[in-house]
Amino acid sequence: STMEQEDAIRQELGSLHGIPLCKSFIEGWPQVKAFQALPDDLLISTYPKSGTTWLSEIMDMIYHDGNVEKCRRDAIYNRVPFLEMKVPRGPSGVEQLENTPSPRLVKTHLPVQFLPTSFWEKDCKLTWQIIYMARNPKDVVSYYYFHQMAKKHPDPGTKAEFLENFMAGKVAYGCWYDHVHGWWEKEQEKKILHLFYEDMKKNPQQEVQEILKFPGKELVEGTVERILHHTSFQAMKKNPAANYETMVPTVTDHSVSPFLRKGISGDWKNHFTVAQNERFDQHYQEHKAGSDLHFQME
Ligand code: A3P
Repeated sequence: STMEQEDAIRQELGSLHGIPLCKSFIEGWPQVKAFQALPDDLLISTYPKSGTTWLSEIMDMIYHDGNVEKCRRDAIYNRVPFLEMKVPRGPSGVEQLENTPSPRLVKTHLPVQFLPTSFWEKDCKLTWQIIYMARNPKDVVSYYYFHQMAKKHPDPGTKAEFLENFMAGKVAYGCWYDHVHGWWEKEQEKKILHLFYEDMKKNPQQEVQEILKFPGKELVEGTVERILHHTSFQAMKKNPAANYETMVPTVTDHSVSPFLRKGISGDWKNHFTVAQNERFDQHYQEHKAGSDLHFQME
């Protein structure tokens, strides 16, 4: 009912084992935990606003040998189901996945410790492939605009307030550092391909070639070029199957801020004050201590 839908709007977050998360997702957690991964699943994992949709469109194009028409068969959120997604009405991510033919592409924002155990063998070796994409945390200010338009999230308040909450890990999926570092440490298993949004912006051709090596997929001449064209920011922004404009407008309001907003690196410079930037840099230095991860901030 409309009531139910309205209930899901601007609701405060719940907590799943200490990680802030949308309450309806927490309700669906038992099904997610019991999710049966299949040997040919490929998981696309990210902290929110790190290029999930972009990578999803690239992967779907790769899986369909660059066939643009096939990749228009449905909206991106149905072509690449969102594992932990649960809304008051409609199928959950797990239900969608159960009805998706193999080989499946699966999207998640879960911190690594929450990954359903079916992704790991008994000896904790990863048996399925995962691509983790990360984006520099300053540009994750994109999350602020997303909160404004995607109304299932709490009201973000002012930019300054949101930045404080983000730094304190008081946003859905929790602390950016924990998420990125947690997945980075798992990368040593070699079954996780680690990508960066900034690299993808600088040299998408090179990154797509890296991706192709990962599942060991070969494409005929010209296909990579077609994939790059179809997954460019401009092309995706115009593509109703990729730009989220088919979602219910009361829940996602593109007039407030489009889902494909700017698609650049370094947009944080247009939003951070000098003081905020200094504070963020200091916080970043403290939290990245001990990690060999390096982010390009523009
Ligand atoms: P901005 O808000 O900075 O524009 P996610 O899919 O993880 O929610 O990430 C959304 C962010 O990725 C948005 O960032 C969006 O514009 C950007 N994005 C989506 N498709 C893109 C593309 N083809 N090229 C570059 N950026 C893209």
